Order: sequence, then C-alpha cells, then structure tokens
Amino acid sequence: MSDDNTSIYTTRDSGAPAGSDEHSLTVGAGGPIVLHDHYLIEQMAQFNRERIPERQPHAKGSGAFGTFETTADVSQYTCAGLFQPGVKTEMVARFSTVAGERGSPDTWRDPRGFALKFYTDEGIYDMVGNNTPIFFVKDPMKFQHFIRSQKRRADNNLRDHDMQWDFWTLSPESAHQVTWLMGDRGIPKTWRHMNGYSSHTYLWVNAEGVKHWVKYHFISDQGVEFFTQHEGDQMAAADTDFHTRDLFESIAAGDHPSWTLKVQLMPYEDATGYRFNPFDLTKVWPHGDYPLHEVGKMTLHTNPTDNHAQIEQVAFEPNNVVPGIGFSPDRMLLGRVFSYADAHRARLGGNYKEIPVNRPRNEVHSYTKDGHMRITPVSDPVYAPNSKGGPAASYAGQGEPQWAADGDIVRSAYVDHPEDDDWGQAGTMVREVLDDAARERLVDNVVGHLLNGVSEPVLARAFEYWSRIDSDIGARIKSGVTEKKDQPDPKVDEQGNPARSSMQAKV
Ligand code: HEM
Repeated sequence: MSDDNTSIYTTRDSGAPAGSDEHSLTVGAGGPIVLHDHYLIEQMAQFNRERIPERQPHAKGSGAFGTFETTADVSQYTCAGLFQPGVKTEMVARFSTVAGERGSPDTWRDPRGFALKFYTDEGIYDMVGNNTPIFFVKDPMKFQHFIRSQKRRADNNLRDHDMQWDFWTLSPESAHQVTWLMGDRGIPKTWRHMNGYSSHTYLWVNAEGVKHWVKYHFISDQGVEFFTQHEGDQMAAADTDFHTRDLFESIAAGDHPSWTLKVQLMPYEDATGYRFNPFDLTKVWPHGDYPLHEVGKMTLHTNPTDNHAQIEQVAFEPNNVVPGIGFSPDRMLLGRVFSYADAHRARLGGNYKEIPVNRPRNEVHSYTKDGHMRITPVSDPVYAPNSKGGPAASYAGQGEPQWAADGDIVRSAYVDHPEDDDWGQAGTMVREVLDDAARERLVDNVVGHLLNGVSEPVLARAFEYWSRIDSDIGARIKSGVTEKKDQPDPKVDEQGNPARSSMQAKV
C-alpha cells in the first residue's frame, strides 16, 4: 500500500513496493541521507536521463493516431496493399515546425512537417512530407547549409534574418518555396487547417508492372486557414503551444480532423520529354497537365497517452516504402533515403525500430540482431543463404520499382528541360494564384522580415530576387523597405527601452 492507502501502491522500477513517495531514508529525522536509499537514487538517476536529443530540424511538434481508408480504386496504378479499395490502415501522424527548438512557438513563420507512418500488412510505409508541395533546394548537398542558415548564429546564438536572406538570395532555386513561406501558407491557423504534400515524386507500379510517377496531396477537409503575421506573433506570445493544444483538444472533444488523399499521376514515359524536370523538388506539376485523382481519407481520432514514447520517439523515414511504391530520381529524396535512419540511430539508438510506435505490425523476418536495447529474440539460422529453413528473399511481387539511368558519374545540375528556370513558377503563383489582398500580405510579410536585421549587400540582392519573381512585387517590396528603413527602430521605445512588440517572436 502507498502512504495515502490508495489501492495502487507505488513500486520501484523493479516492481517491488517503494518505501515512500515523500521521505528519503535518513539517519534519524535530522540526519544525513544514506546511499542505500536505492529508490531515491533511482528517482534522481532516471530523471537525469529523461531528455533525449531533439530532432535536428523539426524539433517542435506533436501528433496523433488515426486510420487511413482507401475509398477509390487506384489498383491500375499501384499494387500497394494499403491503396487497394476498401483497405483500412492504422497510422500515426506528426506535425512540426522546421527551424525552432522543442520549446519554440507553434505559430512562427516556417514550413510545417506533415509526417505519416502507416502500419500496413506489407510493412511500414512512411510519407514524410510538408505543408508545401515544393522545397527550398534541389540537391541534398545544400540541405544542411540551408537548415543552418535558418537556425542560430555561432557567436550570439541568435536567429538571424541576414543569414537567411544571404542563403536564399544566393540560391535562386529557393524562390518558389520562399514565396509560399512568406505568403499566407507560412503560418497555418492550426495543423488541422493545412494540407500535406509528398512534395517529392514517387514511383507507383501496378501488379502487371506498369509504372507511373506520383505526387501526393493530402487536402484538409477542415479547409485551409492561416494566421496573419500579427496574429501569429500575438499567438506566439499568448500560447506557445497553440497548434499542439488545438489538435489534442479537438481530438479529445470528438472533433476528428481528416484529410482527403489525392494524387497526380504521370505516365512513366512522360518524364523525359516533360516541359520541366518532373523530379525537381522546387516545381509543382500544373494540375492542367496532371489532374488530381482521389485515393482515400485519413482521419486522426486518438491522442497519444505518452507523448515521449509515442511522438517524441516516433521515427519517420522516407526509405520505409512497401511493394508497389518506389523512389524517383529526385536527388533530395534519394539523399533523405539515407539521412533519416542515420538520424534515428544517433537520436534514439540502433534498435529504434524496437520502440513500439516504430514496430511493424506484420511479422518481421530480417537477419538484424543484437546491439544496445535489442529486445526481440532472434533464432537460428542467423545468416543467409542457409539450408536450415531460414527466410530467403524470395518475395515474388512487384517489390522495389526502379527506373532506367545511365551516364558518366559527374557533379552537375540536373539535365536541362525547356522550362527549368527558378523564377517562373514563383511568378505564376504571385500573379495567378494570389489575389490582391494575399499579394498585399506577401509584400508586408517580406518587408517586415527584411527590416529585421537584413543589411547590405544582402538587402540589394533580396530586392533583385523579388523583382526576378515579379517586377511589380519586387518594386513594392523595395519601396516598402526603403520607406520604413529610416523610421525609428521599432525594437526600442522613445526612452530606448525594449518595445513590447520586439519581445515577441519575429521569424
Ligand atoms: C525531419 C533530414 C528534406 C520533411 C528531418 C530530420 C532529418 C532530416 C535528419 C530529423 C529526423 C529525426 O531526428 O527524427 C533531411 C534531409 C533532407 C530533408 C537530409 C534533404 C536532403 C526534407 C523535405 C521534407 C522533409 C524535402 C518534406 C517534403 C521532414 C519532416 C521531418 C523531417 C516532416 C520531421 C519528421 C517527424 O515528425 O519526426 N529531416 N530532410 N525533409 N523532415 Fe527532413
């Protein structure tokens, strides 16, 4: 029995009763603590080990469990079991910001992670996307540099808009994604009110071996809503965890958010002659060229009960594909296929797939064994090939769809397609997708961002960058910055004290 006589008594981690929840073992009531109070030692030692490293990017986030149901018939495009008509698959989702640390505000301007893990009968399938259909860079060589430019400086440990714009303006391929980021999609109102995209192109293959390139769009059934910069700043100050709270409370109240999965499908042979490189992660495929086909619906209905065990330790990895789904020549995707499992080994340990949320629900017959925290028993034979009845890689279906490639080994940009420029789709978005009010907010957001610590020569490059996206928007941004640049520093009041607004998050 515990001290207060409740029916469940506290135990030590060994399962044996704990002596007290309140008092250490001492030599007399006023005397020193003794070393053999092993329950006290256990409490202190475990506490000191409670934190694990946060994810390098995407550290702040949360998620929930749900079900994906395939409602349409796309079997002519993929033989993947989870996408066959009527199949329901259990899954977990995690949403996140990219650059902020674990305690950072949910409503900072940033892309949002949209990571999904499906527990299929054919193994785990992970779709690790964002709320944007494109990305800042198109070669994994630049990813690490990009993320560092968004995080903190070496000297003062501060985030720095000058280094963000320095990187972006020297990387014109970022123009399309920066336009998304600086527009309304840069601060979703809640995670429930944003779409999710694979962003990358994947390869689907059907039971007969016919292949299609595919891009995924998870369209929010709640609609897409956003916060303005001011609303985002206010919310960052009022409730750092607003998106986390919104998702948890909605699900707890029985209001289960859902997303409809639609895909764009490109016949395998179209890729070579397409007007731009269809594997370039900085481009969308216009819907006029490749319309959306409905696949199914994902509904999140169950909150985690232990956020650390089920969300902080969930390990998404784009390399987790299942029969019927493969990769594409998108270099970023191929880089990611290495990077995530490596990150998990460093962050969670080599046997991270033993953590229940990461375990496949189907039987695993791999030859992996031993190592720290290995729990699943292995049995002989421990090698292949063998004549002792061990598993053999004899899967007969469409296992890992591949594509044709050849050529000299080089370091170069992608092979040119006629419309491969970096500015075109960003300009089309500004002129044809945004309305006047959205264009006005885009200008305000960029002007505010540039006024926050961006100096020459980066500033001049930023004006040039925006005028190459769209000459009118470029001119408006330049005059907005020029007009406001000489106004009093909004970060200090007349007495030179920090102004309240400057103490709010400004990202
Ligand atoms: C997280 C690497 C591009 C979406 C991460 C993590 C790494 C990483 C190391 C932390 C993983 C962890 O510790 O659990 C890379 C590399 C990229 C890349 C090397 C490019 C070469 C992208 C792109 C997207 C994306 C293009 C979206 C389309 C995500 C998401 C997470 C994440 C959603 C958080 C997953 C979670 O919730 O646990 N990335 N990333 N990343 N990345 Fe990437």
